[in-house]
Amino acid sequence: FNVPAPSNEPVYSYAPGTKERTLLEEAIQAARAQEADIPMYIGGQEIRTDKRSKITPPHDHQHVLGYYHQGTTAHVEQAIDASLAAKANWENLPWEQRAAIFLKAAELASTKYRYALNAATMLGQSKNPYQAEIDSACEFTDFLRFNVTYMSEIYAQQPPANSKGVWNRVEQRPLEGFVFALTPFNFTAIAGNLPSCVAMMGNVVVWKPSNAQIYSANVLMKVFQEAGLPDGVINLVYVSGPDAGDVIFKHPDFAGIHFTGSTGVFQNIWKSIGENIHRYKTYPRIVGETGGKDFILAHPSADIAVLNTALVRGAFEYQGQKCSAASRAYIPVSLWGDLRARMEKDIQSFKIGGTEDFGNFINAVIDEKAFDKITSYIDRAKNNADAEVVIGGDYDKSKGYFIHPTVILAKTPDYETLSEELFGPVLTVYVYEDEKWAETLELVDKTSIYALTGSIIAQDRYAIQEATHALRNAAGNFYINDKCTGAVVGQQPFGGARGSGTNDKAGSMINLLRWVSPRTIKETF
Ligand code: ALA
Repeated sequence: FNVPAPSNEPVYSYAPGTKERTLLEEAIQAARAQEADIPMYIGGQEIRTDKRSKITPPHDHQHVLGYYHQGTTAHVEQAIDASLAAKANWENLPWEQRAAIFLKAAELASTKYRYALNAATMLGQSKNPYQAEIDSACEFTDFLRFNVTYMSEIYAQQPPANSKGVWNRVEQRPLEGFVFALTPFNFTAIAGNLPSCVAMMGNVVVWKPSNAQIYSANVLMKVFQEAGLPDGVINLVYVSGPDAGDVIFKHPDFAGIHFTGSTGVFQNIWKSIGENIHRYKTYPRIVGETGGKDFILAHPSADIAVLNTALVRGAFEYQGQKCSAASRAYIPVSLWGDLRARMEKDIQSFKIGGTEDFGNFINAVIDEKAFDKITSYIDRAKNNADAEVVIGGDYDKSKGYFIHPTVILAKTPDYETLSEELFGPVLTVYVYEDEKWAETLELVDKTSIYALTGSIIAQDRYAIQEATHALRNAAGNFYINDKCTGAVVGQQPFGGARGSGTNDKAGSMINLLRWVSPRTIKETF
């Protein structure tokens, strides 16, 4: 099957004086200058209600970017009906036609809509230009292009043997019903991938984004529509979680959920699905990426410069709000003094502020609830004998939800910020005695309740091998001598097990296979 060979979308630098920088600045100005009125999209129609909610940039919460129209359970019902009405035509369309729509969407996202998508991500989710670029322009486009290739490979797979006078074949049917996509704020790419990869395999979708990502979800929807996605294949609704859950999990045509978000929400969803299991025509597919408490473990042989870069970038890019962000580090005492000085110097050089100033490396955390949660952990660390705030610790929410990059030194291995997920710019360091390497490996594994990403930083090949083996279940994405963030579609399929999810690897054939139900056909001549 001859689909265009995928390659990763090149990342623009937005360096001063470049044409791309001017175009992005213009897109930001245009977005800030208008008050957007964002409808839901059901059956291809723009749906407006009499209840509108404000959208403000996290770094400038008095500025109104626009409003979105809030829906109710009735809109969820309409979205399900619209998806089921679109189903027969969509699943009967030859897969090449579906592939072409998503390849066109990739083209639009990386050209005509590139700056609008990045501007929406920068303003709505408070990402700096580089973080927005690697997310909404590049990772989203990569998901679409690579998934088209995986899709073509899935349809090409057939049983390897036929006995005499027999032809065996496998038909990859879409799921019988609709799929619910529940998407997070922290990556525009993930928000776009969860509904689109499901739809690509011939399914119809009801999509509920995080309220904090509606501003860029609206641009994603425009990309899908302009690419020629038929009405009703993806329906975008803005409703509360309970309103969506009440209708969706009781519906007989519920066929699966594609989720990224918190562990608690996912576990409640799983319970709801269990309670309603007798209602469904088919066992629903449950695919989720959930929490993380990602680690960087340094061996005494670590290159200190590599370690420092892995920590400051892994922990603080996008204010630590990547599911993959490093939030705990295990450092040998022989390296700690030098490392602390290097980290302090780098962190002090970070500029903090709004995304409109491209020089700001650190922007705001997503909302007041996140700000209050993260700062309560910082306050407790300031007042606890088992912890010490050694770098940062300041915060201010008067204009935006700004928290300075903060490093907590934990004096006991079970200190709360070594195991609980904060989802913010806070790194907790535990310093171990160099000769306790074997015990530290055990400790890291034991405390990995979550198991999304993790890194070993070492030059000693035996230590690398020991860590790779001892921590094989502690991270679904494991890095050797690198930060634990920044998985690239087509290069490092992404996802984790334990409390971090079903490990169905975003951007892989494994994931796409969850959205089909194979039928084996044996024909005898
Ligand atoms: N691709 C993102 C990362 O690994 C999720 O940080």
